[in-house]
Amino acid sequence: MAAIHSGSDPLPREIASNADRATAARLRQFDMRALRREYVEQGAFVYQPDFLAPEITAQLVADVAAVTPSVNRNYLPGHKQGGSVSRHTIDRLAPAIGELYRSPALIAWLGELAGERLQFSPSDDPHAYALYFYTRPGDHIGWHYDTSYYVGRRYTVLLGVIDESSCRLDYELHTRETGATAKPGSVQIPPGGLVFFDGDKLRHRISPLAENEMRVSLTFEYVTDPSMRPWRRFMSNMKDAVAYFGFRQVFRRRGRA
Ligand SMILES: [Fe+2]
Repeated sequence: MAAIHSGSDPLPREIASNADRATAARLRQFDMRALRREYVEQGAFVYQPDFLAPEITAQLVADVAAVTPSVNRNYLPGHKQGGSVSRHTIDRLAPAIGELYRSPALIAWLGELAGERLQFSPSDDPHAYALYFYTRPGDHIGWHYDTSYYVGRRYTVLLGVIDESSCRLDYELHTRETGATAKPGSVQIPPGGLVFFDGDKLRHRISPLAENEMRVSLTFEYVTDPSMRPWRRFMSNMKDAVAYFGFRQVFRRRGRA
C-alpha cells in the first residue's frame, strides 16, 4: 500500500477498506492477461463495459446527487461545453469517490494493465478525480488528448455513472505511432463501465448531448511521476480554471496547498 502512495495525500486506511474490498473482489473476476494484450494492441487503450461492482456504481449515482448543486459550468466555443466538479468539491461532498480513487487494489490492477507503476496525482490537482456533467443540449468535449503536464506519463480512467444519452466516446488509436495507421472507434460508457488509456496516446472526444438527455461520468487521473515544472504547472492551472473548475477552485486551493 505504501509503495504506491505519493505521500502528499494521507491514506485513511479504515475508510479506504470498504471501497477497496469491493473493488478487489470484482477485479479478481477479470482476465488480466487478455486485457493487457488488448490494451497493448490498441496502443494503450482498453474498454470494459461492465467493470465496477454494482454497489460501487450505486454509491456513485448517489454521489452525483450530492454534488449536483456545486457543478461548475463552462463553455469554450468550438471545444467544450458542460459541467465539472473538482476533487476538492468531491472531497467535501462525496468522499466515497476519493476512497475508490485511492483503492490499493484498483491502482495496482491499473498499473498491471499499463505495464508500469502508477501513482496518485498530487493533492492540489483538481483533476485527480472529477465528475463531468452533460446536462444541456450540445454539451460535449471536442477532439483532444489528455496531455500530461507532469514529468511522467498521465493515465486516464473514465467510469460511466449516469448515461441516459446518445453521447459517445469517439476515439482514434495509434495516432502518435510512427508508421501506424490511425484506427477510429466509438463506444458508449454505461453506468459501471470503464475506459482506461494513456492520455498522450488517445485522441478522443465526447459527442454532443441531445435534447432531454443526461450523462455523468467520473474521471480518475494517475501518473508515473507527479513532479511538474513551474511553467507547465501554470499552463495546467490556467487550463483547469478556464475549461473546467473555475479560478476559485484551482488557484485558491493552490494557495492553501
Ligand atoms: Fe479527455
